[in-house]
Amino acid sequence: MKRPGTPRLFLSPPHLGGSEQARVAEAFASNYIAPLGPQVDAFEAAFAEATGIAHCLAVSSGTAAMHLALHCLGVGPGDLVLGASLTFIGSVSPARFLGAELAFVDSEPGSWNMDPALLRQALTQLAAEGRRVKAVIPTDIYGQCADYQALLDACAPFGVPVVADCAESMGSRSAAPDKVDPRSAAQENDDDSLHAGAWPGLAASIFSFNGNKIITTSGGGMLASHDAALIARARKLSQQAREPAPHYEHAELGYNYRLSNILAAIGLGQLDALEARVAQKRRVFRWYQQLLGGQPGLSLMPEAAAGHANRWLTVALLDKDFGAEPEAVRQALEAENIESRPLWKPMHLQPVFAGCRMFGGAVSEALFARGLCLPSGTAMTREDVERVAAIVLRAGRKRGARA
Ligand SMILES: Cc1ncc(COP(=O)(O)O)c(C=O)c1O
Repeated sequence: MKRPGTPRLFLSPPHLGGSEQARVAEAFASNYIAPLGPQVDAFEAAFAEATGIAHCLAVSSGTAAMHLALHCLGVGPGDLVLGASLTFIGSVSPARFLGAELAFVDSEPGSWNMDPALLRQALTQLAAEGRRVKAVIPTDIYGQCADYQALLDACAPFGVPVVADCAESMGSRSAAPDKVDPRSAAQENDDDSLHAGAWPGLAASIFSFNGNKIITTSGGGMLASHDAALIARARKLSQQAREPAPHYEHAELGYNYRLSNILAAIGLGQLDALEARVAQKRRVFRWYQQLLGGQPGLSLMPEAAAGHANRWLTVALLDKDFGAEPEAVRQALEAENIESRPLWKPMHLQPVFAGCRMFGGAVSEALFARGLCLPSGTAMTREDVERVAAIVLRAGRKRGARA
């Protein structure tokens, strides 16, 4: 039963920084109440500056960004696209929008991201079968950067481009290519590190500003690439593939995917607070670690040595000896008006993708069975985290005592 009057603790609610309203007021004052305008231009420029990815296109969602990326890479009927199984559907559904087939690759246990060794095996096997893989889509799950270099190395012999799904990893960093020495890269704010999705060699990266993300425009996304021509092509496609003419002229089909100028104004305000939000997410994680770390049967998502994750969500794994199943803990939290959520259900287990090939599967299946995403809002106080941790521990003890 929900306790009346207790404000709900959400998984990852929006957190306004203070400058958003002024930015939106500027957009209103300029009368650019449209999907194009100075705020969109400024948001793209500020995003490029924040990430170090020179060419950026603001669009209506992360899913739209992925759709454009795959379209630009020429994905179409008869092609195969390989995605991470442990991801959110918007990462991979655009391949199907374009008529391509999907196959999935399991996670590596150390980072929960796409396993480069399995990817290499998959590409080798598919090449032997004469299947053409048109793109590979790793996801930076829960904000942790995938091992981009190992994934690119696996793809290189087959000439397959990689599009990074950074929907959850805005503000995360990974070691620079010439500095993959984990001892130096793991340092906080390592100046030589690269922003999520900025790794050289990636064809493109996509970001989401959905309401639950570390920065939000209420709904929105960004396609970013070091390749100016790819972004120019995506820009055209995002505006109904309009040809340069005074009248409406179309030689191919495009989409209506541009971000509203008003929403871009919110994004500008949110970007101002990005560094603070990453620090707050990491602080929430640290608090959980202090309160839950060392509990028998409970562990928190590991952080790869060569990275600095934004800790978008703090995720706990509850083994058998914890004493309670993740679902029992979720219900105990819900009874106190606290939102938590199972791990993302792997794509190869989704009914909509029944019949798709899967390379590996045991790792993501075990993570899904044992994992629970804990509330990780950037405005959470130490007391909030203590309240959540106490309920988690109580649920474990109660079940453990009964067993
Ligand atoms: C990993 C991942 N990929 C893709 C998306 C799709 O982004 P959007 O909701 O902005 O379409 C999301 C989030 O929503 C996500 O978490």
